[in-house]
Amino acid sequence: DRPLKVALAGCGVVGGGLLNRLLPDKRYEVVGVLVRNPAKKRDVAAPAELFTNDVEAWLAQKPDLVLEALSEGEAGHALIRRALEAGCDVVSANKQAVARDPGGLQALADAHGARVAWSASVGGGSPMIETLRAARAAGPVAGFEAVLNGTVNFMLQRLGEGATFADALSDARAAGFAEEDPSSDLEGHDAAAKVKLLCFEAFGRSPDDVPRDVLAAESQLGDKPVRQIGSCHDRDGDLDASVRLDGELTDALFQSLDGERNALKVYGQDGRVWTCKGRGAGRWATTESVLADVADVVRARRAAAELV
Ligand code: NAP
Ligand code: HSE
Repeated sequence: DRPLKVALAGCGVVGGGLLNRLLPDKRYEVVGVLVRNPAKKRDVAAPAELFTNDVEAWLAQKPDLVLEALSEGEAGHALIRRALEAGCDVVSANKQAVARDPGGLQALADAHGARVAWSASVGGGSPMIETLRAARAAGPVAGFEAVLNGTVNFMLQRLGEGATFADALSDARAAGFAEEDPSSDLEGHDAAAKVKLLCFEAFGRSPDDVPRDVLAAESQLGDKPVRQIGSCHDRDGDLDASVRLDGELTDALFQSLDGERNALKVYGQDGRVWTCKGRGAGRWATTESVLADVADVVRARRAAAELV
């Protein structure tokens, strides 16, 4: 078996973790790393000639598998489409890219005999998409509630302990939890994209609009623990979705979540409940989640090849 040719897009918190794991692994040959600035100094030792900002040259390496970890939604979405059209399998951590049109991306993959997976884009290292798939396989889903943003959860805890807003945010950024533009975390855009992706798994469709609360320095949080809760409930066919700051928590699962942890609770129409929790952000939790998707994709590739 020859090594799988892997092209990586992005070499920041997540892409750097992936490159670190892939380079010494003989099962993979990294054929290119797409970034904005190939000359930037990075925290992973890799041959300089791997780095490029030329998409055409990067795709011309004819990768089997593209790992997409860009910080830009639109660029990531365009890149995933290009890769699938070229017949490459794709694993993405970029929720702003895949939440634009998850059904369209899946259909494009199917049309080109390729596979696409994005588990790491929701819940970081916690298996949220897998949990929703298990719930849906057991019967119709009534709704779900979740803590979906590690940065906001981490900051709410630090603010509750008396930290200033600026310190809490700068610690979340230093830990690699926050988005490149942290207003995506603070204004709920990140959690809203994750709600849309969970809706796609739960209901086969996503709401156009997810109303959001904003966490800001002037937010009045009160004395009780506050969590950012992303949710969606099927109300007679209408999807009622939101991202809210909730200071009246009654659920022990959400109350107990420390730091950047995330958690999900799925309600079946028959009254059954599924839960999962885990590390929601950070280099290594996310890297492991992407690599778990890679393992699934490789298994599916092999199974498809055996059928030919
Ligand atoms: P990051 O540290 O800001 O890195 C982003 C990378 O994308 C950089 O290497 C940057 O290139 C590259 N990039 C951005 N726009 C580009 C473009 N148009 N063309 C080429 N390269 C471009 O971000 P991150 O934390 O690794 O996150 C990457 C993705 O994973 C995001 O979509 C994020 O939402 C998602 N994610 C992150 C985490 C986490 O805990 N950090 C967890 C789960 C999912 P330069 O280095 O040259 O600037
Ligand atoms: N910025 C995101 C968060 C990264 O804090 O949850 C994980 O998706």
